[in-house]
Amino acid sequence: MSSQIIPVEPFDYVVFGGNGDLAERKLLPALYHRDLDGQLPSEARIIGASRTDLSDDDFRAFARAAIERFVRAADLETQALERFLARLHYRRVDARSDGGWAELAALLDEAGRTRIRAFYLAVGPALFGDLASRISTSGMVTEHTRIVVEKPVGRDLESARALNRTIGEHFSEEQIFRIDHYLGKETVQNLMALRFANALYEPIWNSTHIDHVQITVAESVGLEGRAGYYDKAGALRDMVQNHIVQLMCLVALEPPSAMNADALRDEKLKVLRALKPIGADRVESRTVRGQYRAGASDGAAVKSYLDDLGSGESDTETYVAIKAEIGNWRWAGVPFYLRTGKRLSQRMSEIVVTFRPIPHSIFESSAGNVQQNQLVLRLQPDEGVKQWLMIKDPGPGGMRLRHVPLDMSFAQSFQVRNPDAYERLLMDVIRGNQTLFMRRDEVEAAWEWVDPILKGWEEKGVKPQGYTAGTWGPSAGVALIERDGRTWHEPD
Ligand code: BG6
Repeated sequence: MSSQIIPVEPFDYVVFGGNGDLAERKLLPALYHRDLDGQLPSEARIIGASRTDLSDDDFRAFARAAIERFVRAADLETQALERFLARLHYRRVDARSDGGWAELAALLDEAGRTRIRAFYLAVGPALFGDLASRISTSGMVTEHTRIVVEKPVGRDLESARALNRTIGEHFSEEQIFRIDHYLGKETVQNLMALRFANALYEPIWNSTHIDHVQITVAESVGLEGRAGYYDKAGALRDMVQNHIVQLMCLVALEPPSAMNADALRDEKLKVLRALKPIGADRVESRTVRGQYRAGASDGAAVKSYLDDLGSGESDTETYVAIKAEIGNWRWAGVPFYLRTGKRLSQRMSEIVVTFRPIPHSIFESSAGNVQQNQLVLRLQPDEGVKQWLMIKDPGPGGMRLRHVPLDMSFAQSFQVRNPDAYERLLMDVIRGNQTLFMRRDEVEAAWEWVDPILKGWEEKGVKPQGYTAGTWGPSAGVALIERDGRTWHEPD
């Protein structure tokens, strides 16, 4: 088995925030990888744009350093890197003035107006509106244009609506790609394959057979130089409103009629609308907020959130756990336990589906406990899928039961490199495929569920509880699930 590369049509990618953190760590390395794999046509160009005064060569030097730093050594090929760097250009533009826009438009027009143009807004949301309108008023929007909007889309329902409205004034919904990079992760794709390319799971994918679902997105990193943004956002806005809610939708959605953008997004929207609201009356029993204190991470001593922030006071949560419920026939009575946090014990993201216990055990207690079957979808690290089953311990010694994983991860055995989520998504933009991007109504529906939690915390004065960096979060996060007689899945 080998991976297959489907070439894309010639394009120009304009990256606003071209010399920023996201471009450096993710976008430029991802585009380099696509080029290395031979997916980019020879005409394709990548144009960095920002307020900083840089020449094409300065931008190339920036990109070279980014790729040398963020691409693993085995994938650094001199010839491929030089070919990639030759595609790069840079134009200085100012989102809040006319400066540079005519020059950018002229550069794009050199390639004609039928070439695909993608404008990637890798900047803070405060600039989305200005950039969208400048792109449009400087005459750069053609029939073949797409715009990519990074999260967060807004900071609550009202601001998300306003942002969607502004972007919608200049671009049609078919041109807008709201990116959630979790949807591009390999295991998330695999979830769709497991559910809908097998007859096995779908009949048992419901409250009759599933006991509960856990979704964990744990990070060991702290603020990574993003204090300004993060302190205004917090874990609920930064991770739950988008990544975790999206994962929950994919676990819970009804089978779409086809794997196409609207069919899939219609089904996700139904899940979002079925989420039971968590308002002031329930925030204390259904949610936990935490904030890390000094501790250790990856073997080194680390500072508290407040020290990382450099200010003595902040009520921003760096950890959140939620017991969510979906009010529909399929999921009635099946809790979805969600948790995410920074400076947790390790970097680990997974979805765990726990099936109901067997109704009656025929085995003697000497055989050992019959554990509940679990399907574990590991997003990172070591992407893969394991179905945990009970078997008889092999060999003599009577009937002894053992819980073992059926490993369904093949990337390693077939020596296929799992592409970074951004690689897939950046190319989907060029292909015009919106399946893995969020539609306007979806983003707004996710905020409709998150807003009452934010308001509830405020109304009830729910402050984050401290947890030591390098642990699994505050004890209340453990109690949230243990109260129900369940435990968080221990990563193996
Ligand atoms: C981003 C968040 O969307 O996702 C970051 O803003 C977070 O705070 C990051 O660190 C995690 O992404 P990944 O792919 O490393 O799990």
